This record gives sequence, C-alpha cells and structure tokens, in this order.
Amino acid sequence: MLLAKRVMQLKPSATLAINTLAQELKASGREILSLSVGEPDFDTPRHIGDAAIKAIQTGFTKYTAVPGMPELRAAASGYFNSQGAKSAPDNIIISNGGKQCLYNLFQSLLNPGDEALIPAPYWVSYPPMVELAGAVPVPVPAGVEKQFKISPEDLERKRTAKTRLCIINSPSNPTGTVYTQKEIDRLAEWAVDSNVVIVSDEIYCALVYPPAQPAGFCSWWARHPENFVIVNGVSKSYAMTGWRVGYTLAHDALIKACNKLQGQSSSNICSIAQKAALEAITGSSDSVAAMRESFMRRRNLAMDIIATWPGVNCLCPDGAFYLFPDMHKLYNSSMPDSTALCKVLLDKAGVALVPGIEFGDDNCVRISYAAADATLQKALQKIGQCLLGR
Ligand SMILES: Cc1ncc(COP(=O)(O)O)c(C=O)c1O
Repeated sequence: MLLAKRVMQLKPSATLAINTLAQELKASGREILSLSVGEPDFDTPRHIGDAAIKAIQTGFTKYTAVPGMPELRAAASGYFNSQGAKSAPDNIIISNGGKQCLYNLFQSLLNPGDEALIPAPYWVSYPPMVELAGAVPVPVPAGVEKQFKISPEDLERKRTAKTRLCIINSPSNPTGTVYTQKEIDRLAEWAVDSNVVIVSDEIYCALVYPPAQPAGFCSWWARHPENFVIVNGVSKSYAMTGWRVGYTLAHDALIKACNKLQGQSSSNICSIAQKAALEAITGSSDSVAAMRESFMRRRNLAMDIIATWPGVNCLCPDGAFYLFPDMHKLYNSSMPDSTALCKVLLDKAGVALVPGIEFGDDNCVRISYAAADATLQKALQKIGQCLLGR
C-alpha cells in the first residue's frame, strides 16, 4: 500500500509503544509493574462525571460551535485571567486535549523551513508535530547539570533568522522541572526582544509542590499577545485524560486560524466532554488539592528509595508526576544506553519505564509516579535489586 511520505516519516509515540509491550507481557501471564504512563491513576472526580451524565440526559448531544460552547470559552478565559491574562472568550479555542491545541498552533504558526526551539529533554510529541508542519525542530540541550532548565543565553545561541517559536513546558514532562517566575520573566523578555513566539505548555500547572510556586506566561500574554500562546487542559489537573479537552489562549488572529483548521478537521470537541470540563474548571477544586497531595507524597517516597542507589543522579522535581534520573553510570557494554536499560528492566524486573532517548536525553530514564504507593514502592525495589543487587 502506497502511503504518504508525511506519515511514513512519522515516529510512533514511544510512551504508547512501551505500554503496548508491557500489556503484551502482562497478557502472557507475567506480573508487570508499569511506571511508564503519563496519566493520573485517579478516577475523574464524581461531580465532573455527573455533569456529563446530566448533559446526556438533557440532550446536550449535538454539534456545538467549532471553538467550543461559549460558557466553556468564557470559563477558560476566566481561568487564564485569574493567572494574570486579560483575555476575552474570543481569545480561546477548545480542542481535543492539549495535543490538538499544540497541533493546531504549529500548523497555524509555522511555514516550511521555519525553526522551532525545543528545550531538551522535551515531551516526545513536540518534534514530530513541528515536523508535520514542515518546520525544523531545534533541540536546546539542558541536562541534569543545568537542573534541566534553559536560559535566554542558551536560546540565543540557537536562534537564527528562521526561528519562529520556542516551546516552554513547565512543569515539565519528562523532568518535573518547574521554572520560577523570575526565570520565566527572563525567557519572556528574551522572546519579546527577539520577536520569537513562546508557546507555553502549562498542562501540568496544577501539579506544583510547595515550597515551589506555580509560574507562567499569562501576565506576559496580557502585554504582548502576539509573542505568547498558552496551552492548558483538564487531562492532568482533573484526572480527565480520556475526555480530551484542552484550551488555547492566543491572539484573536491566531485563534481564528486554529478555528479554521479545526473546522475542516475535527470540528467541535465532544459536547458532553465540554459540559464536564465546564464543571471541572468552575466547580469545587477540592479533589485537585487531594490529588496534588498524593502525588507529592509519592514523589517523596520514590526519592527516598532512589537516594539509596549509588551512581544514580536524580533531581527532586517540583512538579508533574515524573522523575528523570540520570543512570548513565550504570551503562556497560551489554547495556549501553537508556533503551537497553529499559529492556533489561522490563525483561528481568518486570518493570516498565520509558527510555530517556525518546525525550532527547539518553543518559536518563523516565519514571512516572502516577501509580499506587504499593506499586511504586515494589517497582522501585525491583529496579534496585535488578540493577544494583540491593
Ligand atoms: C507536556 C505535555 N503536553 C501536552 C500533553 C497533552 O495532553 P492532553 O492532550 O491529554 O491534554 C501531554 C500529555 O501527556 C504532555 O505530557
């Protein structure tokens, strides 16, 4: 079958691939402990599910406007304004998850040959999405020695006449790193001075652990709406990955472009999911606080175990639900990289992790602590036994 080059060149999602392999081993009867998933293990809070049930029962099951129902656009705008933006509902489009928000943005902002700066380690989907727009992903390395953070100077070194945008993801997948507001302000100043658009992926912003403070680009958007775009959504904050709701805050011209694209591809997102998202954003946030507390407890539990592993350098992250330990000192001739290490762990310890190479850093592996305490503890003990004999 003859397929388009575009799709032939596309890499399948690595996190999904390792999950599939783990599922296959599980199906063959082996106990596999998975610390590879990128979603909260909690159920969607009850009051949010109830709003969706009510939507079905009251017949809210027809097409809505392409960029989302007005109340949800207003609620998302209100959320961004609570973070310092001065937006109107027309500055918002509701899409199928943060993923479609980002896809629409890159298609709307990037011409073939344009360059997009992507701090590495990065979320696996950024480079292929940039490539699908015909543009060139330019990784900007920031390893563990730099606390996984890039500076304006790092970005400036990689900037060319073709640089159109830069993606910032704080809290980060895969590192959990959280930029301070001061660091964000410096990046924002650089973006304004260099006329580069910052696409800020703030999907994990509800998962920041004290004493760290959430920080973002909303107040910069209020002053320079042509230089900043902010993506958020309900997946990670409200344990709603399956509902597929994301929202973009952008200049109205860019929202109109995304709307045109979405109108000719997916149209509006599911009407029922929109009602659920409205309840999530405007209803009680008690469950968000409870989930945040659980994640913080698990982070501490995992860090305590990993701290006993000699040769492994693991920063204590301030957000999201990932650890990204540098394990390269454990590599040897039969286990020379992060992919080989993850294969050994899956085969010998029955634990699924994601190789760091998929995120642009082959020294590390990604551990997700979105798993029950007992699973997390058992999996980490098995890793310690397998790699270090302890
Ligand atoms: C950094 C980052 N951005 C965006 C997304 C997209 O999330 P969703 O499409 O579920 O909103 C993910 C999901 O894993 C992510 O890790």
